[in-house]
Amino acid sequence: MSKYYITTPIYYPSGKWHLGTCYTTVICDAIARFKRMQGNDVFYLTGTDEHGQKIEKVAAEHNVPTKEYIDKTVGELKDLWKLLDISYDKFIRTTDDYHEKAVQRIFTKLYEQGDIYKSSYEGWYCTPCESYWTKSQLVDGKCPDCGRPVELMQEESYFFRLSKYQDRLIKLIEENPEFLQPASRQKEMINNFLKPGLQDICVSRTSFQWGVQVPFDPKHIVYVWIDALTNYITALGYGSDNDELFKRYWPADLHMMGKEIVRFHSIIWPAILMALNLPLPKKVYGHGWLMLGGDKISKSKGNIIDPFILSERYSLDAVRYYLLREIPFGQDGMYSNRAFLTRINSDLVNDLGNLVSRTTAMIEQYFNGAIPYPEQATEFDEDYIGLVDGLYSRVSDNIDKLLVPEAMENIWEVIRRANKYIDETCPWILAKDESKRKQLATVLYNLAETIRIVAVLLQPFLTECPAKIFKKLGIKPALYKNLKSAKHFGRRIYGFRVNKGEALFNRLDIEKELKELDKIAETIHLKDEFILQEKKRREENLLNINEICIEDFEKIALKVGKVTACEKVEKASKLLKLTVDLGEGRERTIVSGIALWYKPEDMIGQSIVVVSNLKPAKLRGIESEGMILCASDVEGNLSLVAPIMNMKAGSEVR
Ligand code: MSP
Repeated sequence: MSKYYITTPIYYPSGKWHLGTCYTTVICDAIARFKRMQGNDVFYLTGTDEHGQKIEKVAAEHNVPTKEYIDKTVGELKDLWKLLDISYDKFIRTTDDYHEKAVQRIFTKLYEQGDIYKSSYEGWYCTPCESYWTKSQLVDGKCPDCGRPVELMQEESYFFRLSKYQDRLIKLIEENPEFLQPASRQKEMINNFLKPGLQDICVSRTSFQWGVQVPFDPKHIVYVWIDALTNYITALGYGSDNDELFKRYWPADLHMMGKEIVRFHSIIWPAILMALNLPLPKKVYGHGWLMLGGDKISKSKGNIIDPFILSERYSLDAVRYYLLREIPFGQDGMYSNRAFLTRINSDLVNDLGNLVSRTTAMIEQYFNGAIPYPEQATEFDEDYIGLVDGLYSRVSDNIDKLLVPEAMENIWEVIRRANKYIDETCPWILAKDESKRKQLATVLYNLAETIRIVAVLLQPFLTECPAKIFKKLGIKPALYKNLKSAKHFGRRIYGFRVNKGEALFNRLDIEKELKELDKIAETIHLKDEFILQEKKRREENLLNINEICIEDFEKIALKVGKVTACEKVEKASKLLKLTVDLGEGRERTIVSGIALWYKPEDMIGQSIVVVSNLKPAKLRGIESEGMILCASDVEGNLSLVAPIMNMKAGSEVR
């Protein structure tokens, strides 16, 4: 048993989670599960990078104390990892007390031994933005962010002697090609950063407070990347009283990250470790990005990239499968709804789903549901079994090389071959001839055994369907937790009773789904717009809150209404047309912009509060006679306002 320490970067808790965010974590999860299921002693670390001006600013925009904002978004990130079945062993937060203390100890140690020194930093400073810029970053000599004038300023700062490690870093990357992968990143680091010459880096800031204080000079805050990178060792207890985990797991076997942060991991991080005289990570891997229309995926209109929506609609396994399979590892990959849906239909429904349902149906039909004993080989068996028998080693070789999509392809090659084996052997023809019964038994055993091997090997990648497959085969998953149980073809699974049951994955009507996803995307887009408007309105309202007197308020006639009918307004995604009883002996029509939150069928029978003396107005050609009251917030939530007791239609609200 070997130890295996694998890490993702720690995430900025900025609250914008999308499919791209999940990429690193799902890939690492599959690798961690794979290694664990091979019997290794795995430690999988992830967490959040919570300090720095950026986070402070985002929290301020939400008008909440920084820590309160972060606690909420970290909670949401943990929910996302739960949804995606991420099997991390530890979640570190850089605001955790033990981490902050360890960062301070590390900073002090490096200062005391001379790797960090105090000097002065010179740059062009924009006071409103609290940012330094180099001369080449300025636009027309002004701040590139806000366009205001900048001044040349000097500030006392601490510096890390990065330049001292330049030669050792070049040697590390050049002489140890396994350290930085894929190989293209080696040239990039050597040619763009190391060969031109490394400068010492400024590792403290005084322009903001949200971070770890330099213990011996508290007006300085430790540079967020120094704070963040050290998480990989502080999470194991380095710099604390208990460094048992550190001794057990360090050095990391794999630091995985997106390509944009390879520089920090392959230059600054090893240099810090060299300064601390610690062993270096065995491998740093910079993967490509999941792209959307040419840009790195981010929360935006168009395609659905919300992992919650996608997995609720199409299953978690569909989302994990797509992330693990679609993007050539190390390169960028383009997301589209069509590619996602096509993968589900072709690979999960057609290839895997069909194989399982055809095999179990035939075992039910020809052998009364019991997996038969293989008695007589067919002419196709040798070639076929040869391919299935070598599957474990092909998959595990590819995982060792971090070729995750290739490992998935190995499994699908066997699934497709098994479907072909059915077509070659034609069990339905064998079934018609009693003298071929032994061959039929062998074919169906071979198929069941293939499915078992496939299910065993799928466990690290897909976390729901392997258990369903085991159930359909009537075999106990507990027996097959170790991947090595997939090493050899020919386990004694005969006699187990299969159960075809429901389909593993449902076939999708792709064109229909694309339309549905477009509708959902539009709703998300409109909600985002709503949030922006709400923020703006609040900012403006805060400035103009006018007192009114009771006489002003009495001019507004608020009444309880009962909704008797409701429908969507055609070609207006935000609007509902409601028929409302206000106890007047006639019903009113009211058009309201609540369609993003309420479906017409949810509205019928609802009590609502209506501004009943509002002058009628035409909305999309419909005369609206009143306005419905709602509560809303800047998070994009909206709720109808209604009396908490059942009140008659027409009751006054005052
Ligand atoms: N906080 C830093 C990392 C510090 S590690 C000491 C950071 N955080 S991040 O939240 O911006 O990114 C976390 C991970 O998500 C990175 O590996 C990043 O590359 C990955 N991704 C974010 N968007 C992505 C895509 N669209 N596609 C693939 N991965 C992407 O960087």
